[in-house]
Amino acid sequence: MRRQALIATAAAGAGIFGYASVIERNWFALRRYDIPLLPAGARPLRILHISDAHLTPGRHRLLSWIRSLDALQPDIVVNTGDSLAHPESVQPFLEALGPLLDRPGVFVYGSNDLYSPKPRNPARYLWRNSTLHPSRGEPDLPWAELGAGMVAAGWLDANNKRGRIKAGDLDIQVGGVHDSHIGYDRYDKIAGPTDPAADLRLGVMHSPEPSVMDKFTKDGYDLLLAGHTHGGQVCLPWRGTLVTNCGIDPVRARGLHRHPADSGDPGRPWLHVSAGLGTSPWAPFRLYCRPEAALLTLVPRIS
Ligand SMILES: [Fe+2]
Repeated sequence: MRRQALIATAAAGAGIFGYASVIERNWFALRRYDIPLLPAGARPLRILHISDAHLTPGRHRLLSWIRSLDALQPDIVVNTGDSLAHPESVQPFLEALGPLLDRPGVFVYGSNDLYSPKPRNPARYLWRNSTLHPSRGEPDLPWAELGAGMVAAGWLDANNKRGRIKAGDLDIQVGGVHDSHIGYDRYDKIAGPTDPAADLRLGVMHSPEPSVMDKFTKDGYDLLLAGHTHGGQVCLPWRGTLVTNCGIDPVRARGLHRHPADSGDPGRPWLHVSAGLGTSPWAPFRLYCRPEAALLTLVPRIS
């Protein structure tokens, strides 16, 4: 009897792993949100938010799904990093973006754009965060080539930088930081009040670290976009996200929320955290947390 129970448990575990690694990991979802942020009478603005592709050679389903996103006709594309997981992924990633690169765009890096993934116990994801080990030294992935490709297309490099973008009918002020998860963020380089004359103030980061988001909030940003969490990657249907891999609370590890969560201030910024498009090649599964991109449609504020 005990042996039968063990066999049944092992079979169920193998089935769940097979589903998580073969089916759900390739079951891409498009999330859609309307965000009431624009002045009355303004034309809606469509923002395509992509993140965490963690691209390795041979992920043809992921590449073709990214390629299909241009059909959404976004007014602006925001990539919140971790696009790479292999030295030969830059060109396939840029080619998958394809016509999206002809649209206005913004990007920041995540640590995985700089450092190649290392083998590790996949279950480690559930109890340890992925802070970079000090022995990693110099970056070994072609992050600069990736950035040059996006900049050559006209996208704004927002790594510890501010900039201005015209998208749709709007004048958008952008401020962004490099990945705080490995201490590359330099908010001091973009600190200061935002421009009240801009139509929208957009804050962009890889990791939704509350202390960093507090600074964006203080400076008057309207909308914060981040990735990094993978939405927990392995979730439970009755409990949701288990781990966030940074300081944000599990409830806000994916989807549309406000920051801070517990403030009643109606002027506090909106926050969208992407659960991401991919996974580390050393943790190739997703459970109750489909890979995703998001189309955020900014609409006039409700008066
Ligand atoms: Fe990631």
